[in-house]
Amino acid sequence: MDNHSTYNYKVVRWFAVMTVIWGIVGMLVGVIIAAQLVWPGLNLHEFLGYGRLRPLHTNAVIFAFGGCALFATSYYVVQRTCHTPLFAPGLAAFTFWGWQLVIVLAALSLPLGFTTGKEYAELEWPIDILITLVWVSYAIVFFGTIIKRRVPHIYVANWFYGGFILTVALLHLVNSCEIPVSLTKSYSCYAGVQDAMVQWWYGHNAVGFFLTAGFLGMMYYFVPKQAGRPVYSYRLSVVHFWALIFTYMWAGPHHLHYTALPDWTQSVGMIFSLILLAPSWGGMINGIMTMSGAWHKLRDDPILKFLITSLSFYGMSTFEGPMMSIKTVNALSHYTDWTVGHVHSGALGWVAFISIGSIYYLIPRLFGKEQMYSVRLMTAHFWIATIGVVLYIAAMWIAGVMQGLMWRATDPDGTLTYAFVEAVKNTYLFWTIRFIGGLMFLVGMLLMAWNLWKTAAGAKAYDAPVLAPAGGHA
Ligand code: HEM
Ligand code: HEM
Repeated sequence: MDNHSTYNYKVVRWFAVMTVIWGIVGMLVGVIIAAQLVWPGLNLHEFLGYGRLRPLHTNAVIFAFGGCALFATSYYVVQRTCHTPLFAPGLAAFTFWGWQLVIVLAALSLPLGFTTGKEYAELEWPIDILITLVWVSYAIVFFGTIIKRRVPHIYVANWFYGGFILTVALLHLVNSCEIPVSLTKSYSCYAGVQDAMVQWWYGHNAVGFFLTAGFLGMMYYFVPKQAGRPVYSYRLSVVHFWALIFTYMWAGPHHLHYTALPDWTQSVGMIFSLILLAPSWGGMINGIMTMSGAWHKLRDDPILKFLITSLSFYGMSTFEGPMMSIKTVNALSHYTDWTVGHVHSGALGWVAFISIGSIYYLIPRLFGKEQMYSVRLMTAHFWIATIGVVLYIAAMWIAGVMQGLMWRATDPDGTLTYAFVEAVKNTYLFWTIRFIGGLMFLVGMLLMAWNLWKTAAGAKAYDAPVLAPAGGHA
């Protein structure tokens, strides 16, 4: 069914399925690079060495897994809350195929060694242009749907999705300004410290908007839906939105402490990062308090378990981030595995958990089923993944602090107490624990894929009828 009386679930279904598939691929590459750090012999070929696979991992998990989750959920949420099918369904289908092409081109070009060298913006200029085309189409579909909505109000989840779409467009255009010299090579428009500043303005806002704002959109829709409760404070959600987007913009320089960047700029980055704690926690509390009166549901609802645990990790990483942005703390944490631990408490604990919870919510609805094939398997997924994340981040914290302390230790005569390689030797145990934690997380994703397969196999694609043009939210 694909007409005006039903929602366009087709493109949501495609993106939802690809979220699981790319999640497995990206995390498998994560497990491989984690193993390469423990067993360097696994760097089997130039194309498959650590240096080539690491950016493949980050691109696959952020843009393929996270990106597909964002597309799937935003397309679902905007239709349902606007009581109208997606605007320009042909363009929506183009965003799906275009985005998959971007991912495939990334998976080919990165192992081959084509890169701009800018972290999280490694893809070369022809792919950048394709990304721009897809993103503009995405904006047209999303905002077009908002414009043709049949309810007066624009629900807050759409504000977060909309903010994410607009900001990512801006970040991508500014940071990817480059001068091509061949089909596969370009140079940045910026030079020296300006280049670094633009890159980390982009980098931190990629965290704030790609890895946070859109996922907060998920929080504001799926947590109330699954809990069966209204958002704890709608007023707070609006304050949350404006405070968060304003503050994130300024925090980038905390990635460049003690560099050639002017000192005052570093301090501005630090101050705004500290302020960022407030809106981040305001949002988290708003999400968690939405459970008021529904806490008992957490006992046997694995979707709620994923959603609420994700908010706890969000709170944790947005407390840790401001602490790490304090210059004296950063002097210890920078370059160490502490940063990697911070990244994954956000990436696995927050981004992956909220995506998994939301996709579990969507799958039965997209295939006309009451619920997933196996709820017990979902619960097993939750526990395996939770233990996996905890192993991962605890190991990285210990390793990071140890590395930082070993690198800075000096003897009374002023010489370094430890050679660098001694810190590396002492990290092996923690890298092994991280490998095991990561493997567990991957196993959880495989359970999800099996569950999805069993739910969808034999089921008919289902497109729900459009709700009446009344007030309220869907
Ligand atoms: C209030 C919120 C946050 C603040 C103030 C913050 C702050 C920081 C700081 C100070 C660093 C270390 C920079 C360095 O030493 O190089 C960092 C790294 C990072 N953070 Fe956060 N963080 C926050 C939340 C998050 C969240 C929620 C995520 C993920 C979803 C995240 C992802 C990252 C990533 C990917 C890096 C590593 C960047 C790189 O060097 O490649 N952060 N963050
Ligand atoms: C099975 C799960 C995962 C494993 C085993 C894993 C493993 C790794 C490893 C080994 C690194 C390199 C660390 C280093 O250079 O020292 C890394 C980096 C990174 N991963 Fe993952 N990862 C996983 C999932 C994810 C997910 C789901 C995301 C995002 C949504 C993510 C985002 C990142 C980022 C942003 C970095 C770069 C960090 C930095 O530059 O500081 N990872 N990961």
